[in-house]
Amino acid sequence: MDTVPAAVAGALRRTIDGGGIVCVLTGAGMSAESGIPTFRGTRDSLWSRFDPMRLATADAWREDPALVWGWYRWRMQGVRDAQPNAGHRALAELARHVPLSLVTQNVDDLHERAGSVVDGHVHGSLFALRCFACGRAHTALDDYMEGAQRVEPMRCTACGDRIRPGVVWFGEALPDDAWASAVDAAERCALMLVVGTSGLVYPAAGLPALARRHGATVVEINPEPTALSAEVDHVWRATAAEALQQLSVLPRSIDRHSSAGR
Ligand code: APR
Repeated sequence: MDTVPAAVAGALRRTIDGGGIVCVLTGAGMSAESGIPTFRGTRDSLWSRFDPMRLATADAWREDPALVWGWYRWRMQGVRDAQPNAGHRALAELARHVPLSLVTQNVDDLHERAGSVVDGHVHGSLFALRCFACGRAHTALDDYMEGAQRVEPMRCTACGDRIRPGVVWFGEALPDDAWASAVDAAERCALMLVVGTSGLVYPAAGLPALARRHGATVVEINPEPTALSAEVDHVWRATAAEALQQLSVLPRSIDRHSSAGR
């Protein structure tokens, strides 16, 4: 397993010594090592197998709510069957040693199940169900049926309309609070780690540039080049689990080093 690139280790040390905040922006690649498919980049990624316009828009829901609900129930079951990976756990560990703001584009709950506090789910959450019409929150009944293509959504107990997944569909606004937290974290951080995102979907993909404009050092952690690679300060070609495990043990050595130096 590679060690932490010197430039990244230096940026973390400067952040810790300066009492700065680390902002971590994660994408689907963060959960890839948990077996959750990404959206792009491989043959089994979701958008190479499914048409987002038929499954991830409000019009698709109006057109065929049972198809959309069946697909999201399948995705929910995949997340329920998955476990947080070493990268999720390393992030939770890192947060015990440095001030850390976690912003994710992911709609799974693997960060939380690893012990992290997520400051912003900017694309919503699979399990935050709400009425499509009146917005009333609902909890998921366990209506998963293996292999079911179409599952009729539950009905709102207040207005009778259908219950939808709490994710942000293409063309929908991001949740105000999550987005405000994400912008605040990007503007205040001294170091931003951009982990496992292709950087293609705005406005979330604009957060690294915002952080940089506010003086942060931005590091991309991704085994592949992305649309952001040319805009960041350092690129670390590693997987989320590999890199974050290495990074999470650094603060203790930095503490020991700086205390020895006192
Ligand atoms: N570790 C780190 N990165 C990885 C790993 C891994 N183990 N495996 C894959 N990746 C990288 C890929 O190289 C790719 O750059 O993760 C990225 C995944 O990109 P996308 O699938 O496009 O996911 P994301 O960037 O999160 O998508 C953004 O698009 O469809 C919407 O709402 C959806 O939130 C999603 C948004």
